Amino acid sequence: MTRPLDHLLVTGGAGFIGSAFIRAVFRRLGFAGRVVNLDKLTYAGNPANLIGHVPDDGRYTFVHGDIGDQALVERLLAEHDIQCVVHFAAESHVDRSIYGPKEFLQTNVMGTFSLLEACRARHAAGKPIHLHHVSTDEVFGSLGDDGFFDEETRYDPRSPYSASKAASDHLVRAYAHTYHLSTTLSNCSNNYGPYHFPEKLIPLMILNCLDGKPLPVYGDGQNIRDWLYVDDHAEAIWLILNKAASDTSWNVGGRNEWKNLDLLHKLIEVVAVEAGRDVRELRKLITFVKDRPGHDRRYAIDASRIERELGWRARHDFGSGIVETVRWYLQNPRWVQDMKSGAYKSWLDTNYAAR
Ligand code: NAD
Ligand code: DAU
Repeated sequence: MTRPLDHLLVTGGAGFIGSAFIRAVFRRLGFAGRVVNLDKLTYAGNPANLIGHVPDDGRYTFVHGDIGDQALVERLLAEHDIQCVVHFAAESHVDRSIYGPKEFLQTNVMGTFSLLEACRARHAAGKPIHLHHVSTDEVFGSLGDDGFFDEETRYDPRSPYSASKAASDHLVRAYAHTYHLSTTLSNCSNNYGPYHFPEKLIPLMILNCLDGKPLPVYGDGQNIRDWLYVDDHAEAIWLILNKAASDTSWNVGGRNEWKNLDLLHKLIEVVAVEAGRDVRELRKLITFVKDRPGHDRRYAIDASRIERELGWRARHDFGSGIVETVRWYLQNPRWVQDMKSGAYKSWLDTNYAAR
């Protein structure tokens, strides 16, 4: 499979996983081409995630804008001769989707629709264009004690977030089938690592440990997630772009299941060592709180197809990945402070106002 990948449009590249992908292609994956990063800079987007990690020779361009602005996307595809769209942009937090679903439908469903329309126009004009859609294992619903999600698992989304992601997955497949648009899709499990916005379980718990704040465990803490280091996800996507045929889907996961409460105990031990805190004092911060409405019990990915057919492997084991993550938060107090105070918005005003 050879598909032109010299000019990429990355959506949501200022977020957690999108920025990991951009850092990975420029720093580790030998990418010699250009990236245009289209990001609306919602509360979750931070251009500082890329400072010092992207070339300053014109091969990287940041564009502050909305994926739902089809005219803007069409202009970017044409002006930068884009051959491939790597689509990360989304509203990504399940709790927020429960209390305010509208934004999720707007960005995840209508935004993806707009992108697809822009790609369809480019395809109809005879230009090479491919779209990779970054999706989630949550579209498959919730597992019992046994079994795994594989590529054939029936869709059964159960939160407004996962329903919006499922809708976007279906649209991507429909465009491949109906309009012969070249597409690929990946459904990944929970990511963790540096630059993770501190509303998600792992960074929230790290920062609350450091601040001596309560560690809120939803329900009985026995819900299970399958954790993957974010760089392993970025590399899986790069492999799919390079090797996978059009209209294929790939499950990506870490074979690394943890009950939330067990994970928290592990995290507390790591923070205690790395930050020099008393482990017993940290444990006292654990606080059981009201469960998330509709809380899915267990997610677990069967990644054997991407391992077998594309040769992907998760390179980070959880023991070292979690230590690296805690160290990153300890070593980046400025980033943490900016995220807490929202100061990166003013960073935007001074750095990107003119673009
Ligand atoms: P994130 O919330 O950290 O980042 C999302 C980014 O998208 C932000 O930079 C935000 O500013 C941008 N964005 C939001 N709406 C936009 C719009 N309308 N136009 C342009 N940009 C917009 O999310 P993440 O955790 O990096 O997730 C990235 C993708 O990966 C999402 O599609 C998510 O569904 C998927 N995913 C996430 C995980 C995970 O564990 N975090 C796992 C599997 C899949
Ligand atoms: O599975 C992939 C998904 O993983 C992605 O598609 C989502 O974008 C991403 O946010 C993540 O969703 P989760 O809901 O699994 O992640 P979150 O970090 O919000 O929660 C992980 C688990 O921890 C979940 O069972 C809820 C629980 N939790 C979470 C928070 C924030 C707590 O017990 N306390 C908390 O304070």
